[in-house]
Amino acid sequence: MGIVVIAGLLFSLVFPPATNAADLRNIADDKIAERAGKVDLNNSSVRRFQQFPGMYPTLAGKIVLGGPYNQVDDVLSLDLTERQKELFNQYRDNFTVTPPEIALNEGFDRINDGQYR
Ligand SMILES: *[C@@H]1O[C@H](CO)[C@@H](O)[C@H](O)[C@H]1NC(C)=O
Ligand SMILES: *[C@@H]1O[C@H](CO)[C@@H](O)[C@H](O)[C@H]1NC(C)=O
Ligand SMILES: *[C@@H]1O[C@H](CO)[C@@H](O)[C@H](O)[C@H]1NC(C)=O
Repeated sequence: MGIVVIAGLLFSLVFPPATNAADLRNIADDKIAERAGKVDLNNSSVRRFQQFPGMYPTLAGKIVLGGPYNQVDDVLSLDLTERQKELFNQYRDNFTVTPPEIALNEGFDRINDGQYR
């Protein structure tokens, strides 16, 4: 029996049935839907910024390292060049920030997505 399976069994013992794996999976799905095409500055990797010409990798790196944020405009208080501020303003409607969800945590994902690797 693999260590991840054991972790999964322990997980279901520690947490009550109301927060079982299926429920957590749904929270993750909802969160992805709620972000609908927008890049979550609180929860994105640098690669998510490749779709915005000019942002990757330098400005994208600053944004990811500068997070988390309470609002999208908090990015403007980072140490950005004028050009980077322009770029950010150009795409700012494509960004959002959302509160972190435990269902999107790597550890829970490994148990819940059915791909035990
Ligand atoms: C930014 O958002 C607009 C409106 O939703 C969309 O049409 C556009 O494709 C997005 N740009 C990028 C680079 O994702
Ligand atoms: C972004 O994440 C931080 C830390 O995880 C959190 O305190 C903050 O409330 C989040 N932003 C929003 C808009 O929920
Ligand atoms: C998304 O948020 C979760 C929970 O706060 C965190 O564990 C995870 O590392 C974040 N993912 C990214 C790509 O920032």
